[in-house]
Amino acid sequence: MSDPIYLDCDTGVDDALAIALLLGTPHAELLGAGTVTGNTGADQAARNTLDLLALGGRGGVPVAVGARHALDGSGAHDASVVHGGNGVGGVELPRAAADPVPVPAVDLLLALARARPGELRVLATGPLTNLAMALRREPRLPELVRDVTVMGGAVRVPGNVTGHGEANIAVDPEAAAEVLAASWPVTLVPLDVTMRHRFGAADQEALRAHGTPLSTALAAMLTGYFDYYEPVLGERRVPLHDPLAAAVLLGAVDVSDAPMLGLRVEVDGRRGAVVEDASAARQTRVVLGVADDTVPRIRELVLAAG
Ligand code: BDR
Ligand code: CA
Repeated sequence: MSDPIYLDCDTGVDDALAIALLLGTPHAELLGAGTVTGNTGADQAARNTLDLLALGGRGGVPVAVGARHALDGSGAHDASVVHGGNGVGGVELPRAAADPVPVPAVDLLLALARARPGELRVLATGPLTNLAMALRREPRLPELVRDVTVMGGAVRVPGNVTGHGEANIAVDPEAAAEVLAASWPVTLVPLDVTMRHRFGAADQEALRAHGTPLSTALAAMLTGYFDYYEPVLGERRVPLHDPLAAAVLLGAVDVSDAPMLGLRVEVDGRRGAVVEDASAARQTRVVLGVADDTVPRIRELVLAAG
């Protein structure tokens, strides 16, 4: 049984690792990707995604440019200090032959969902604007999609862009609120768990030593990511936000703690916070713990991409 996947991303160093993990997991069938402004602009994110897919030998996967602004019209924060000016740590990737498909990401997502009703698995590793727009366009989308896995939120820990806000939620809180409230099964993979599982120098060296075009590029883009996180974390290691969400979706790592919680996304006041709300339906599976061998599992699957 394969897992047909639509990836919604803002590629991004850790998004790049997630893409590699999808390519390296035999039962993952990446049908298409859409991009959103987050770590970099939606257009640059599409360029990065196409270039990475081509490096991994999957240049035929359709990539669509998505939302350049949040639902309220605002742009994203400047993440260049984390992900470099081009989103991939300043690394110049060989330019793929393919260009983005000439439809917006919402159209690509809806077409894929309608083509395989009830089968498509959605992985969101960026702000949730495209998914919210797709819900508005097609109210039956929750019935057409099998499930949604979101890297985002800081539920019981501090945020990473404000004291309470995690980047993917804080860039477009209205979109996040709509996605979490919709009647589809959502698994949230928040900072609570992603911050605790990190690549270090040995993982970077393994990618470099693997010596393929994709692994070499991933190793190179990790250097700037290490540089950003070292003073933040007090060690030269980086959290595996997006690849962990991909691994959870694919069942590639063992989940040890994942309660069903009622959540609310704050759109005023503590804007961008994801808070537990006893009055909300307990409909979101929130991953708070994964097995100790998660990092080596992720490394193995990223290396398997080629
Ligand atoms: C999330 O925000 C982005 O910077 C990363 O790619 C990840 O998806 C972490 O908060
Ligand atoms: Ca991301």
